[in-house]
Amino acid sequence: MSLYAIGDLHLHFQSTLKASAQLHDRLWKDHEQKFRQNCLRMLTEEDTLVLAGDHSWGRNLAECALDFDYIMALPGRKVLLRGNHDIFWDAGKTAALNARFAGKLFFLQGNYYPYRDYALVGTKGFTFEGPFYLDAHRRVVGWDTDAEDHARKIIERELVRLRASFENARAAGYRKYIMFLHYPPTNILEEGSGFTEMAEEFGAEQVIYAHCHGESRFHDSILGRRNGVRYSLVSGDYLRWKPMLVV
Ligand SMILES: [Fe+2]
Ligand SMILES: [Fe+2]
Repeated sequence: MSLYAIGDLHLHFQSTLKASAQLHDRLWKDHEQKFRQNCLRMLTEEDTLVLAGDHSWGRNLAECALDFDYIMALPGRKVLLRGNHDIFWDAGKTAALNARFAGKLFFLQGNYYPYRDYALVGTKGFTFEGPFYLDAHRRVVGWDTDAEDHARKIIERELVRLRASFENARAAGYRKYIMFLHYPPTNILEEGSGFTEMAEEFGAEQVIYAHCHGESRFHDSILGRRNGVRYSLVSGDYLRWKPMLVV
């Protein structure tokens, strides 16, 4: 019985939308088949697989139906996080999604999911992604402060959801946590953030995040151990479509 994670599958069995990276990057060639083969080889029905957001290009549940069929056919229990591209998932509709897919998929946002003596907690998260202004040596010399103000508001809202997730788990008696975000826990300039502080406050053992795909983004945020917390990026192309063993 093991816990695995991966993110950014960006499935499109129905939707005609597709990112240019998926059209041109060899890492994305037949990625659905590669990922399914890896899951069939690595996971059993007793395992839990957290999908850390950006599941589908579909714009609503109907356009995601075949993508969900693909996910539901993977081995083990499936826990889904909300990514920025998951527009089928209105932030206020998490409970409705959990009712609709009960026993098949679990949607993690503000609630928690039990795994052994751990609570899996999480939310989409958010981070300021610029625009940053660079000098001739590609050093950051400034950024768009309006965009930064806007990001700060979204981050505050996401921190409320994350705290609810931790507090729901703690009220149910959990004392061991693994924290999941879709967005990286910090922006490219930050050493820490409200998300890293909350991980430390509740003593989360690990923070798992996705969203950073394409080689140039693999080092946008924290990787490895910091202040007692282990940080891992699990975007699918970073992992070459092999889910990461978390516990
Ligand atoms: Fe993505
Ligand atoms: Fe994303």
